[in-house]
Amino acid sequence: MTLLRVLQERLRAACIDCGIDEADAGRTNLSHVADLRFGDYQSNVAMVFSKSAKRSPRDLAEALKASIEVDDIGEVEIAGPGFLNFRVNSPAYAKRLSELLDDERLGVEQVEIPRRIIIDFSAPNVAKPMHVGHLRSTFIGDSLVRIGRFVGHDVVSDNHIGDWGTQFGMVIWAWKRSLDREALEDNPLNELLRLYRAASDKCGEADEIREECRQELVALQQGDEENLAIWRECVSLSREGLEVIYDRLGVSFDHWLGESSYNERLSDVVDDLLEKGLARESDGAVCVFSGGSEDPGVDPFKIQKDGEWEDKPMIVRKSDGAFNYATTDIATVDYRSEELRADAAWYVVDHRQGDHFRQLFSVAERRGRRIDLEHISFGTILGKDGKPLKTRSGDLPLLSDLLDDAVQAARQSSEGRSRLEREEERDALAELIGISAIKFMELSHHRTSDYIFDLDKMVSMEGDTAPYLQYSYVRCRSIFAKLGEDYVADGNDLELRDEREVHLARMLVRFGEMVPVVLEGFRPNLLAGYLLDLARAYHSFFQSCPVLKSEGSVKNTRLALCELTARVLRQGLRLLGIEVPERM
Ligand code: ARG
Repeated sequence: MTLLRVLQERLRAACIDCGIDEADAGRTNLSHVADLRFGDYQSNVAMVFSKSAKRSPRDLAEALKASIEVDDIGEVEIAGPGFLNFRVNSPAYAKRLSELLDDERLGVEQVEIPRRIIIDFSAPNVAKPMHVGHLRSTFIGDSLVRIGRFVGHDVVSDNHIGDWGTQFGMVIWAWKRSLDREALEDNPLNELLRLYRAASDKCGEADEIREECRQELVALQQGDEENLAIWRECVSLSREGLEVIYDRLGVSFDHWLGESSYNERLSDVVDDLLEKGLARESDGAVCVFSGGSEDPGVDPFKIQKDGEWEDKPMIVRKSDGAFNYATTDIATVDYRSEELRADAAWYVVDHRQGDHFRQLFSVAERRGRRIDLEHISFGTILGKDGKPLKTRSGDLPLLSDLLDDAVQAARQSSEGRSRLEREEERDALAELIGISAIKFMELSHHRTSDYIFDLDKMVSMEGDTAPYLQYSYVRCRSIFAKLGEDYVADGNDLELRDEREVHLARMLVRFGEMVPVVLEGFRPNLLAGYLLDLARAYHSFFQSCPVLKSEGSVKNTRLALCELTARVLRQGLRLLGIEVPERM
């Protein structure tokens, strides 16, 4: 059991001793203290329960302090208005470290009630550029999949690609006129994108071309053989092209249930909405309106215009009879809850789709779907000018170009420093570091904040970067290379003497306590931040505590610290989708 949980349970027992209701005591909270001068863990229970216990917070804190058993772990102090601060002693940390050495999960416990969770992420649109927004979704989503699985949930990952949108009218139009077969075979994603851009430019210039594209789309949706054949080829080529990128990123999916997989269900969905009275016709379209139970300020079906609240319906069938993104998403919720029997579906999608998801979730609730739905939104990646990242020509940068640039930057940054002799090894390392660097830059920011895409910064070895962590790992491992053998416990108890040893132990022990917290609020950045703190604790330990030159129990303990640091760094990075090299 983690120290956090042990203390939490002891605190709960003390609360019950002090007359606090059992149900209330179940909510006892304890957290890490950021400022170590105040101890390791802190609880505000005395303040929270003081009213119901009819005692002053300080008084209740005194009573809890007298009742709680912590002698084997450390001591308790009361601070401020009634905080309980726990300080863990070094033997307790040493004991926990030895437990971790025997624990493959490094202290991360499995959840008591596993849930089936669908994670809908990445989801680029076929034939449209896979832009930097998809990059954020891909990395955040992949990391949540990994963490969700590691803590024991039944996670199903689904790439809900946009394979049935209006863009196909344009792509088919251009395909019929200017397809370059050779280019298509060479790089399908680029050629499809070229066709899409060519048509979309022309549509901007002339109305009759826009109309021709629309006709191609209508033909496709009505089952025209030629158009369907082109569409099928586009989707399968795109998928091949995307697989190449995902392979490079180390990302995979259980399903690729794109928008088109739901086509057959859409008319039933609309009929059902009409039947249940949730949708009605309006100007020839079928729309869902407000349920009326919410205050207009929070009602996703209302919008304020000139001081008045107006309807902002969700269109589920357009006046020309076509279904849309919204209809598909409603069908997708049905499928996930009824057929996949999921307890939850998490959508990792750009914040600009916030209104769409609020409407979608409201419709699901009004239809009685029993599934917990979350929109995990994120902000924008900025260029160095502080504006949304664009290429020199003003387009959204292609994901594959960003990856190539990062690999190039990684190569330059390690030039002359690498210990690797062979060219291929250096290439492989640059590829690993470049891609890890982008991932870590992404995952170290809170997902809702915007951040600047700065290649030089992210591949630097000094700073809050992937290569810094990878280097820290290599450093830990190099001790065992010098030692000439892997870590083997010598059977004696570990003893932490130096304060830097204690601090490193404290950080290692926290791994199992923080990983589950990442899923509360969907914040891989907590894990990223933790790993940086761990690496810093390691470097400061390593600078002042010689390992190989020490002896006896000191050496045994220090080797154990190095071993566990390496394992936690490797596992923690893996949860972010980042692998470690053995040499750099
Ligand atoms: N294809 C969409 C886009 O690129 C994202 C899809 C997200 N998932 C969903 N179920 N709506 O914007």
